[in-house]
Amino acid sequence: MIRRKRIWVTGASSGIGKALALKLAANNNRVVISGRSAESLEAVISECRATVASADIQPLVYDVTDDTATASTTAQLNSLLGGLDMVIICAGHCEYVDNAEFSVEMFRRVYDVNVFGAVNTVAAALPMLRAVRAKTSADRPQLVAVASLSAVVGLPRAEAYGSSKAAMNYLFDSMRLDLHEAKIDVTVVNPGFVETPMTSKNDFPMPFLMQPEQAADCMMSGIAARKRRVNFPLRLWLSLKLASMIPALWYSVVGPKLARNNAKM
Ligand SMILES: NC(=O)c1ccc[n+]([C@@H]2O[C@H](COP(=O)([O-])OP(=O)(O)OC[C@H]3O[C@@H](n4cnc5c(N)ncnc54)[C@H](OP(=O)(O)O)[C@@H]3O)[C@@H](O)[C@H]2O)c1
Repeated sequence: MIRRKRIWVTGASSGIGKALALKLAANNNRVVISGRSAESLEAVISECRATVASADIQPLVYDVTDDTATASTTAQLNSLLGGLDMVIICAGHCEYVDNAEFSVEMFRRVYDVNVFGAVNTVAAALPMLRAVRAKTSADRPQLVAVASLSAVVGLPRAEAYGSSKAAMNYLFDSMRLDLHEAKIDVTVVNPGFVETPMTSKNDFPMPFLMQPEQAADCMMSGIAARKRRVNFPLRLWLSLKLASMIPALWYSVVGPKLARNNAKM
């Protein structure tokens, strides 16, 4: 159980980040939620206080692509929480490649939020995580990044989104090594399909689709256990892992068929 921590959640104005923030605030944590719209953040806070009147949850408007906001964001977090035990990097952007229109700008939009946005968020949070003086392993600060199961194997139309999430997996695996000495734990969360505003525009089948609250529960238990990777749902993760282990079958037979079917939709 995650309790009595000072936590910053980005991408908390909707979907998975919002579901997670509501649960964390209900569990006696001090939570700061971020997104680009003050109005959306206030709506999440009202929803939270309607069920838990005493919830300690505050807004911090933050565009993760703004690399000039790092120092001021650290200062604002410090004044809101007086320190930071955990950051959950959940802000994300998804666009798929349309074969008819291979757009460099689209890749840039996806990478700006998912990759450089994660880097900016780490830059803002890291000085505060480093400042934590943990007496026990349960007090160790924690860096959590929400990537995606799309990173496990090449998927049709996911050249930009999937590769940005694969970059996130590598980025945080690498950070785990360099933050070991500083006793900062790093967890990468790879969800499958979750019903959120992000997936509402998907025009292809989404196997094992979950609700945001179910996804938040999977994340909470994995984060509390300080797992290096939290992959869910299990059946989708196993299917994709298997595909990655038999590349000749995936890239020559099954994957191309999936690509043809998706292209028809
Ligand atoms: N839904 C899925 O099936 C699924 C599967 C695997 C991984 N994920 C990942 O889970 C995370 C949450 O996605 P979701 O499905 O919950 O989508 P969502 O409901 O669309 O939420 C995306 C969040 O990211 C924020 N965001 C986007 N661009 C931002 C920016 N430039 N600066 C700050 N915040 C920004 C949005 O806030 P504002 O628009 O208010 O700024 C929103 O809070 C993402 O990283 C996504 O890639 C989702």
